[in-house]
Amino acid sequence: MRRPFVAGNWKMTQTLASAVELALGVAEGARPFVGTVDVAVGPPFVYLAAVKQVLGDSGVTLAAQNAYFEEPGAFTGETALEMLTDVGCRWVILGHSERRHVLGETDELINRKVRAALTKGLGVILCVGELLEEREAGQTEAVLDRQMAGGLADVSDGQIGEVVVAYEPVWAIGTGQTASPEQAESAHAHLRNWLQARYNPQVAEVTRIQYGGSVKPANAVELLAQPNVDGALVGGASLKAETFVPIIEAAAGQ
Ligand code: 13P
Repeated sequence: MRRPFVAGNWKMTQTLASAVELALGVAEGARPFVGTVDVAVGPPFVYLAAVKQVLGDSGVTLAAQNAYFEEPGAFTGETALEMLTDVGCRWVILGHSERRHVLGETDELINRKVRAALTKGLGVILCVGELLEEREAGQTEAVLDRQMAGGLADVSDGQIGEVVVAYEPVWAIGTGQTASPEQAESAHAHLRNWLQARYNPQVAEVTRIQYGGSVKPANAVELLAQPNVDGALVGGASLKAETFVPIIEAAAGQ
């Protein structure tokens, strides 16, 4: 049985004051559910420490939205993995579509980050997902295979247990156009088969696969009810406790 995992990706939003307020609301609202659902929030780097302080012992964990693979040193503007563990991060989101498509990150770069994060003891939320034109051209599964093989290259059987996969079809991110439960389930089942072939049946059975892309309270129950959907990576709806907490509740009800 896989424990559901709901994470909020706050992207490049919030002020210090609103981040603290949002974290407080999530910590309070998630309290009844943290016994059955893993919950994380991913604020921008500059608010991580403040949010960590607010989260306290609530059981809600902290995720960073990116990291650099190098050891601390002369890399102006980058953030080292040690810095993330230092401020209390449990997770790092890597390979998000906005980093792939806006910032130009390649599978190779993402893989270096994934391996470095796992070495440093952080859990990785590895995002994969196809563009609309790739889906329309029937390439969804090939794209997912390529991103999984690239992102997880040289990630050992011993390390894969700290990886969560997030299926985020690019055409569903921030568009209000959610994948149907059937589309999500089909992609998730494919990803689980990939894990079985690359690793083994046990890894495929226990690895959590989140769905991301316009998840909101109105569609969360149906998406999370799919057998291979083990949680959600939530953007827009994670920016208010009133819309994020019901998604956590939906995961708890599965
Ligand atoms: P939305 O929920 O705003 O579509 O964003 C999804 C996402 O990119 C989460 O990482």
